[in-house]
Amino acid sequence: MNPVLEMKDVHFKYLIGKEKVFEGISFKIYKGEFVSITGRNGSGKTTLCNILRGFIPHLNQGTLSGDILLHGESIPDKSLGELADKIGYIFQNPFIQNSGIKETVYEEIAFGLENLGIPREEMIKTVDDTIKLLKIEDLREKHPAELSGGQRQRVAIASIIAMDPPILIIDEPTSQLDPKGTEEIFEIIKLLKEQKKTIILVEHKIDQVAEYASRIIMLEDKKILFDGTTNEILSKEEVMTYGTNLPQVAKLGIKYSKEVKKLEKIPTVLEEAVKIFKG
Ligand SMILES: Nc1ncnc2c1ncn2[C@@H]1O[C@H](COP(=O)(O)OP(=O)(O)OP(=O)(O)O)[C@@H](O)[C@H]1O
Ligand SMILES: [Mg+2]
Repeated sequence: MNPVLEMKDVHFKYLIGKEKVFEGISFKIYKGEFVSITGRNGSGKTTLCNILRGFIPHLNQGTLSGDILLHGESIPDKSLGELADKIGYIFQNPFIQNSGIKETVYEEIAFGLENLGIPREEMIKTVDDTIKLLKIEDLREKHPAELSGGQRQRVAIASIIAMDPPILIIDEPTSQLDPKGTEEIFEIIKLLKEQKKTIILVEHKIDQVAEYASRIIMLEDKKILFDGTTNEILSKEEVMTYGTNLPQVAKLGIKYSKEVKKLEKIPTVLEEAVKIFKG
């Protein structure tokens, strides 16, 4: 199987930066994978997302080398427009994502489709379906400017989902949301996972990462320090020394394994923990 996305020996330095952000990053991501990117603040998670979406080098300049490939074709050589319906990008701050020119949520969601030149009838159906799927019927006629942060984030996600991109890059979508808003966003992420989208998620809420991601790529000191299954990575105590927290159940499992009885496998989600401790 060929990878959907690939980086080969990527180096990058921002134009105004003193140091490189990346010194030789390589990985392959396959269709339907759900990869979470972790690493301490400033380790380059957002930069990595921006390179994959082509925002670097198109909007944000610097010195970029190595191969960055979408289905084997160079991403930096593609225009941002060409990439728009293939890679959806959901920003940390939904206020940036907002078009700022549409007067209702309905029109806001239709905006991206208009730009793709989708015929009107198909567009109406797609917007209706998306609103239903994300359960935001109550927001339909509201002005985007009067929405709360959580509502804006859901609308921002809706406008991306409406374009139905096979790949989604989601950068800390819940960092500005309360627990209820966070839960609502993860309900949507769950739907996307069920649709077998290829998902790249940056998220600090590690219990959610443990539950949804199938793989974790951890950045540290300009390189990839760990790349493995979620359970492999989130069961390692040393991960915490690199600015990534462990799920509560993993911490409990590690403590139990050291102090009570050695466990074959450290649990990273609750169901695993229940199975392990039931014996
Ligand atoms: N536009 C820019 N120009 C110059 N340097 C930048 C720019 N954006 C980010 N940086 C620097 O590049 C490094 C990586 O930043 P990046 O935002 O990718 O990290 P991050 O892992 O997403 O951090 P956070 O967890 O805070 O979101 C940091 O040292 C940051 O200061
Ligand atoms: Mg970031």
